[in-house]
Amino acid sequence: MPSTVHAFDAVVVGAGGAGLRAAVELSRQGLRIAVISKLYPTRSHTGAAQGGIAAPLGNVEEDRWEWYAFDTVKGSDYLGDQDAIEILARESVDAIIELEHMGFPFNRTPDGRIDQRRFGGHTREYGQGPVRRACYAADRTGHMILQTLFQQCVKHEVRFFNEFQVLDLVVRDGRVAGVVAYELATGELHGFSARAVLFATGGYGRVFKITSNAHSLTGDGLAIAWRRGVPLEDMEFYQFHPTGIYKMGILLSEAARGEGAILRNDKGERFMERYAPTLKDLAARDVVSRAIHQEIREGRGIGGRDFVHLDFRHLGREVLEKKLPDVTEFVQTYLGLDPAEELVPIQPTAHYGMGGIPTDVDGRVVLDERNTPLPGFYAAGEAACVSVHGANRLGTNSLVDLVVFGRRAGRHMAAFVRESDGVPWPSDAIAEAADRLESLRRRREGQSAAEIREALQTTMMRHASVFRTKESLERARQDVAELKERYQRVRVSDPSRRYNTELLETLELGYLLDVAEAVVVSALNRTESRGAHWREDHPRRDDTAWLKHTLLYRGEDGDHRIAYKPVVITHFQPQERKY
Ligand code: FUM
Repeated sequence: MPSTVHAFDAVVVGAGGAGLRAAVELSRQGLRIAVISKLYPTRSHTGAAQGGIAAPLGNVEEDRWEWYAFDTVKGSDYLGDQDAIEILARESVDAIIELEHMGFPFNRTPDGRIDQRRFGGHTREYGQGPVRRACYAADRTGHMILQTLFQQCVKHEVRFFNEFQVLDLVVRDGRVAGVVAYELATGELHGFSARAVLFATGGYGRVFKITSNAHSLTGDGLAIAWRRGVPLEDMEFYQFHPTGIYKMGILLSEAARGEGAILRNDKGERFMERYAPTLKDLAARDVVSRAIHQEIREGRGIGGRDFVHLDFRHLGREVLEKKLPDVTEFVQTYLGLDPAEELVPIQPTAHYGMGGIPTDVDGRVVLDERNTPLPGFYAAGEAACVSVHGANRLGTNSLVDLVVFGRRAGRHMAAFVRESDGVPWPSDAIAEAADRLESLRRRREGQSAAEIREALQTTMMRHASVFRTKESLERARQDVAELKERYQRVRVSDPSRRYNTELLETLELGYLLDVAEAVVVSALNRTESRGAHWREDHPRRDDTAWLKHTLLYRGEDGDHRIAYKPVVITHFQPQERKY
């Protein structure tokens, strides 16, 4: 199989917000860097983030970073590490101003300042009422972040390798030596030798059937790191965004509720008043998603079915056109409805993994509860778990996470690269990945990847989504194990080398299966309810036993090892969580 080895100072895998922000930082420092992306960069999933990016600018009403930090800690159901959350809250301000200076087209107040809107769980004075903290560009905030950062990368002459699928992390003698990637256009393998590697490969929403995530979000970075001995942290916590288009999962931004849209059940009731008397429709996402499911379970879904309505009708056309143009268009295009006049059917949609590759606050990947780093390996964005989101992420905090911790990771990598003499590129690094790929590509007989993927998404949706029990999770675990067994016999019917998307999807399915297993094993282990992890058989949060992070190490044949890491608490002691 043809192959090439490239040498760079640092390699960034993934060209979403975190990867691009790190790349900007590295390139500003004059380093030779490569960004490897399975997509053209501006097609990355950060572009699908709609409603806003938080920062306590106080442009529209008073705000303070301490209030923001408190909201994030409370939103995380007290599992977020408060040292990291304080960094997020403080550095968000500067990160937003920096984006503004890069040319980000923020919506403006009448006097020209960055405008801010409401979002779920963001409050003034430690929970007294909602606050306008989300900076935004209509409902295309993530799209604008991608465009802005990509332009900066072009300006700094960052070298991109687009439509390259990462296959392996190369580690020798306990240090990172680079990565191996597969070029989709040619079928060639490429080695990237580097002193530091950042995984910013995004999430894994495609393990679920109903998801807001793009097809590309298959947990690649997590699975590769896990296979290389890095634990995965807090994988039991997966967020369902309350408002996905019914049956399709396509996101209708929380900005809709930030602008005043209301959730209604079959009786037309604003049911969130009962579940969250202070913040109502703007409670944290885990609370709202559970409330929707509860309404459906108790027979108040629309027509007794499994969806409720999002009501925009009182907002008026001007707000829809100026502040929610994409949401409006999605409703028109996918449902054929006019949100200015008609109720919109929605259901919770798999949206965001709070867990991931464990890192410290400088993006260094850590291997254990003592935070021992794997030298040269970094992670940021949804692939990483720093952990600022804990058991449940607040809306807008993924974009803040990308720019704050993408920047910090880039800075630390630059310093590391300068001090490190690097690891020689191992001559067998590509051969190992080539063997695996060729054995897949040559297998004409066997199971269909599409069928295995469909079965995986169905079982994860049924048994490991918003509500979970020991029985449901055991069922999911058994199903995933059987699917992994079937995957050993998966076939690839397309033998071609160029643009073999069937081979790519089969590789991605392998990653999805590993990540699904990590979710289910971690969820079975945590016998409490916290944030997005709701165990009906253990319906209380249990701080005595479970105020700790899970670290799951991959073992052979599903025989995994679990360790725990303490939660960092600085100012906010755990309290009962009410909205
Ligand atoms: O609802 C939204 O606009 C999504 C934002 C987020 O996930 O932070």
